[in-house]
Amino acid sequence: MKHVSMAGLSEMQRYWLITGSVGPRPIALVTSLDADGLCNAAPFSAFNYMGEDPPLFAIAVVAYGQESHRPGEAKDTLRNIREHEEFVVNMVDESIVDQAVQCGSDFPAHVSEAEAVGFTLAPCTAVRVPRIAEAPISWECRLFRILDISTQRAIVFGEILAMNFRDDLLDEKALRVDVGRFAPVGRLGGPNYCLTGERRRIPVPTYMPATGQPRE
Ligand SMILES: Cc1cc2nc3c(=O)[nH]c(=O)nc-3n(C[C@H](O)[C@H](O)[C@H](O)COP(=O)(O)O)c2cc1C
Repeated sequence: MKHVSMAGLSEMQRYWLITGSVGPRPIALVTSLDADGLCNAAPFSAFNYMGEDPPLFAIAVVAYGQESHRPGEAKDTLRNIREHEEFVVNMVDESIVDQAVQCGSDFPAHVSEAEAVGFTLAPCTAVRVPRIAEAPISWECRLFRILDISTQRAIVFGEILAMNFRDDLLDEKALRVDVGRFAPVGRLGGPNYCLTGERRRIPVPTYMPATGQPRE
């Protein structure tokens, strides 16, 4: 094993080691509205669900870095969420991953990324922010809390108010997602992604010494 201490490393060195270790990460393509009603779209892979009661998830947002033409500036997504307290998380699958990643370019604030990459916007029910019509699943969300870690980074906790599913993805009777049909793309370190077509089913055995049967 090779041991690396975080102490003394630069922010970017930590970034590459951390994001190279945590994968595949789901990608939230977040739509939000600015003060003029322009729809912004940006991907975030520091993203995961945090609970069911309330239905919570978290996204970590860092200010634009030195590689951008907007270094130090807050991301449009964070500014819009602070201002309007509502947004939409659009899940990214194989069919939209290329466009979703293009939305991660440092477009100027007055450009709608969704429009620039050819996405269609569709109205939501619980929030004024539109969703991406091509996304297989989208969550209509309101801001739960923002944890400001520093002037440059914040963790946004969102509460899911409602969800939209492509028709074939929701088993309405069981109220479950048909995971066999959902093909999310995972982010690995840097510009590396993985497809999720190859599956294994691994039930957790219930500890029942009498039968030793795995639970359904
Ligand atoms: C796949 C992918 C995942 C990303 N994940 C994050 C993230 O978790 N946090 C973050 O601050 N930026 C992340 N970015 C960068 C933002 O998407 C990018 O800075 C974007 O331009 C922000 O747009 P906005 O200013 O419209 O909010 C990611 C980019 C890509 C392509």
